[in-house]
Amino acid sequence: MKPSAKSAPAGLHADTIAVGHGYDPGEAWGAAKPPIVLSSTFVYPTAQAAKDFHRAFFEGAAEAADGSPVAEGYIYARLGHPNLTMVETRMAALDRAERTAGFNSGMAAISTLALAFLRPGDSLVYSRPIYSGVDNLVNTVLPAFGIHAQGVVDGLDEAAIRAAASAAVAKGPLALFLLESPANPTAALVDIALVRRIAEEVGARQAARPLVTVDNTFLGPLLQQPLAHGADLCVTALTKYCGGHSDLLAGSVSGSAELIGRIEALRMLLGNAMPPFTAWLLLRSFESLPVRTERASSNAAKVSAFLSRHPKVAAITWLGELAEGSPQRALFDRQCGGAGSTFSFTVRGGEAGAFRLLDQLRLLKLAVSLGGSETLICHPATTTHFNVPASRRFSSGIGEGTLRLSLGLEHPDDLIADLARGLDAV
Ligand SMILES: Cc1ncc(COP(=O)(O)O)c(C=O)c1O
Repeated sequence: MKPSAKSAPAGLHADTIAVGHGYDPGEAWGAAKPPIVLSSTFVYPTAQAAKDFHRAFFEGAAEAADGSPVAEGYIYARLGHPNLTMVETRMAALDRAERTAGFNSGMAAISTLALAFLRPGDSLVYSRPIYSGVDNLVNTVLPAFGIHAQGVVDGLDEAAIRAAASAAVAKGPLALFLLESPANPTAALVDIALVRRIAEEVGARQAARPLVTVDNTFLGPLLQQPLAHGADLCVTALTKYCGGHSDLLAGSVSGSAELIGRIEALRMLLGNAMPPFTAWLLLRSFESLPVRTERASSNAAKVSAFLSRHPKVAAITWLGELAEGSPQRALFDRQCGGAGSTFSFTVRGGEAGAFRLLDQLRLLKLAVSLGGSETLICHPATTTHFNVPASRRFSSGIGEGTLRLSLGLEHPDDLIADLARGLDAV
């Protein structure tokens, strides 16, 4: 039988949900912590039960042939398995969603949702900058399937978003807004509620309303709830903050049961569901997400205070430093529950200056990715966003001297001392 996928009791805090929701020791020999179920296939008690499981899975049948309720069971691990159910139940509760689908990477989640909702001839609008994998997907892979992608840079500029939507509609029905807020690597914001309003207007003029999807990787479920602001789907690269230790790859999409059901139907055929060991690691990682978020955010505040006063730093994008009274600040206050701990800063001296800083570091690790317990730093133009054409990079705010920093859990004074040494060399 499946672990019970109950929703979290109303009023339960996210910190509490993160620790244990979705796992009931009473369903697994009283084990305080979830077992890993590695089995690829599952045994049916009778032939009729096998048929009923399949009817429940493929047709959503709630009753067995004899009229009794179907006890939904597992069939084959590509279709679902116990650890996946536990992660999906917990993530759905954290995202305040009806349902979540888990994947074997963030890109698997995004590409599956794109394939689930886009058809040849459709168009989409995406916010810029966006994670380079998504930039490549929409600009090099999807066009080969007859799908047009239109970028928009300022996610607060109503006229710019409307213009992007009109340009997209001119190429074909607008099916999807793919937003990333805050954006990788600049932490630029997109006004989710504004995009939803525009999606409603576009929807009134074509056969169906475009879906609004938000990549919530940078803040994660504790600091931002895109569904509450009008998104239809919330995507998270669980590889980052939710995994939190740079030792797994995973992704999720949360939303209504209807939309997630369509995504799951495709996931079954693409074969990219989250595997059991990854799901088990994530259940453990979720437990410390609230305290990791607190510590990394406080490190980000201290490090950004140091960087923003440093004469060799030309700009810094930590959301906690947004100017009071600015439209960005007003949106941040409306939409985000915290500033997070990944942002970029720009050193004077372009690529050469940035490289000199990086090569002096002894504690911070020069690596792509973010959201781990260790502090990571990289030069997006020559690493994470290498594959994005220079013109699109520069017009999205990724310069030659831009560095992306993901604060970990080390002592802030040690991080600042290392960055100070690096900046001395710039
Ligand atoms: C914002 C964002 N979304 C999606 C992804 C893709 O996640 P994954 O590497 O797990 O496929 C990344 C990876 O860095 C990311 O930063």
